[in-house]
Amino acid sequence: MPIELDPMLLLGEIDPPQRLLMGPGPINAHPRVLRAMSADLLGQFDPEMTGYMNQVMALYRPIFGTANRWTMLVDGTARAGIEAALVSLVAPGDVVLVVNFGRFGLLLGEILARIGAVVETVEAPWGEIVSLDAIAAGIARCQPKVVATIHGDTSTTMVQPLDGFGALCRAAGALSYVDATATIGGMELAADRWEVDVVSGGLQKCLGGPSGSAPITISDTAAEHITRRRHLEQGIRRPDIADGQGPRIVSNYFDLAMVMDYWSDKRLNHHTEATSMLYAARECARIVLEEGLAARYARHEAAGRAMTAGLRAMGLEIFGEDAHRMINVTGVFVPKDVDGETVRLAMREQFEIEIGTAFGPLEGRIWRIGAMGYNAMKHKVLLTLAALEACLGMQGYSLPPGIAVPAAMRAWDA
Ligand SMILES: Cc1ncc(COP(=O)(O)O)c(C=O)c1O
Repeated sequence: MPIELDPMLLLGEIDPPQRLLMGPGPINAHPRVLRAMSADLLGQFDPEMTGYMNQVMALYRPIFGTANRWTMLVDGTARAGIEAALVSLVAPGDVVLVVNFGRFGLLLGEILARIGAVVETVEAPWGEIVSLDAIAAGIARCQPKVVATIHGDTSTTMVQPLDGFGALCRAAGALSYVDATATIGGMELAADRWEVDVVSGGLQKCLGGPSGSAPITISDTAAEHITRRRHLEQGIRRPDIADGQGPRIVSNYFDLAMVMDYWSDKRLNHHTEATSMLYAARECARIVLEEGLAARYARHEAAGRAMTAGLRAMGLEIFGEDAHRMINVTGVFVPKDVDGETVRLAMREQFEIEIGTAFGPLEGRIWRIGAMGYNAMKHKVLLTLAALEACLGMQGYSLPPGIAVPAAMRAWDA
């Protein structure tokens, strides 16, 4: 049975409430990004459009910390970038080692199992990260073709250190993949220094855009590996472009060999580029680079520091190993005798502020509070803390009033 809808609402203009999105993402997009998205559409082979595509490639290289030629967009949400990377790197039967410390590590395993890979894992409990030694031991144990991990896993709010990670993989002859959806634009990405082969992201967190485009960067080594798997779609074959000898990539849409041909000067037709999302991705990157990477990371750090200080001042306990917490999303335990969902509802209804719930083993136990991109601002952090303090008070959680905001202000400036 289709859901019955009020005919007045059905035909009404979209007029969403002005919510402040302080969860683990999505967050409020920067107004400049929304404006860029309303610019006129172009045909995908229009020289202006292909010019914008080339600019996007150049704009994302510093954001990924790379000189990789193949730095571009996969159309779709961040998960599209993950799926494109994995399906293009991994063939059925390949052994892949997943470094798993949360929901998104599990997601990598799930996508890989669907591809038909032999999935091996090294794991840490939610709230911790996996040591480099454990990764090295995992590689030695299973001799993987690919090692895949997450940079910041929003499900646990932990960030996996990646210095030395790629070198371990390369020494063992394995390619490496990192999902940086939750950190791109907010914490340093250093694809080249980490020596990792493929890194992908999404717009809707620290880049301050809407979801729907997945920036990706691919090392030359990985690009060669993927090109060896090129099997051009029949209707676009050309005598000057040869197929590779490797196994055909099992997805057409996420076939990065064809996507690279599309973004190259061959401009081989693949999907119809999502023009408005490309404008969004371009504007996000421009804003990041105008602010400057170091200044942007410092702003996210100040926001995270202030949020944590305010929460601690309220007597709340922060989740996860302190040394490995993401700076842009903070996990905080729901206090005893407080109903987490009632507080979230009050935050939304009384203050128009959204904070995040959690899933898996953390469901009902922690809230996840983000300060990312356009929302990593002092006043938004302070408003969130003041609202949370009031909502906790409404639930009978006793604390001296007005304690969180001054603590957060001091921490912001520290
Ligand atoms: C670390 C991480 N990876 C992947 C995703 C999936 O992103 P999307 O929902 O845009 O596909 C998310 C979304 O929260 C995420 O936090």
